[in-house]
Amino acid sequence: MSSPHIVIAGGSSGIGLATARRLLANGSRVTILGRSPERLQAARALCEGALQTVVADAADSRGIGAIFADLGPFDHLVLAFGSGRGVGPFATVDLADVRQGFEEKVFPHFGCAQAALPHLAREGSITFVSAVSAHAAVPGTAGIGAANAAVAALVPILANELRPLRVNAVSPGVIDTPWWDFMPDDQKAASFADFGGRTPVGRVGQADDVAQAIAFLVHDSFMSGHVLVCDGGLRLSA
Ligand SMILES: NC(=O)c1ccc[n+]([C@@H]2O[C@H](COP(=O)([O-])OP(=O)(O)OC[C@H]3O[C@@H](n4cnc5c(N)ncnc54)[C@H](OP(=O)(O)O)[C@@H]3O)[C@@H](O)[C@H]2O)c1
Repeated sequence: MSSPHIVIAGGSSGIGLATARRLLANGSRVTILGRSPERLQAARALCEGALQTVVADAADSRGIGAIFADLGPFDHLVLAFGSGRGVGPFATVDLADVRQGFEEKVFPHFGCAQAALPHLAREGSITFVSAVSAHAAVPGTAGIGAANAAVAALVPILANELRPLRVNAVSPGVIDTPWWDFMPDDQKAASFADFGGRTPVGRVGQADDVAQAIAFLVHDSFMSGHVLVCDGGLRLSA
């Protein structure tokens, strides 16, 4: 049997890159998509195995269809890109920023999954990356939480509608990735110390913690319709 071909949209950094490394180590063929050629090149240097990199903007619904067609058939799709927009107290968060969050995460996840369908193996899978903000009740996360909840809401519907294709998601907690680089280093260290202290396992997550959960959902042919929260228990005490 040939190795499965797995496409990771948002695979040049953080959770997507850790997932690529883990799946490559399992012998899969992996294609990672990202907008920056430099980031893709840097990611390539960190990977061993049958890796292909493709410059692509997952938010460009027409372009992404052509890219999937060029890739040919593949077995699994992982959607590991997102947005940091829509954070702030409900009373004052800027609606335009919330809308931008939906534009950067919800519609591209929807459009990318839709564009991949003609090329995905019938018994393959789609794994979305949502976030714990979809499930926890943290003040100040109504905007970003709503966008991530919209992604999570796709899972049971698509798992039923697209059967036998399997559809799942992971919802990460606070994970130490470049997603947090908008913060100065000292502020990031203080935030991680605070989140780590509130997390039952006593630390923030690493990208590979989430990659393990994604690899499980990709490989286990009995998992479908599931949103796996991978947060060290943060949702219980956030
Ligand atoms: N880190 C956390 O604490 C955390 C917590 C909960 C949920 N999440 C979710 O986890 C996912 C991954 O986050 P991360 O922490 O791994 O972030 P990251 O390190 O910033 O990686 C994001 C990746 O997505 C790519 N990307 C972004 N927009 C894209 C687009 N339109 N088309 C193609 N590729 C795109 C980026 O490359 P380019 O910029 O070059 O395109 C990069 O490879 C996101 O959905 C995020 O919301 C993260």
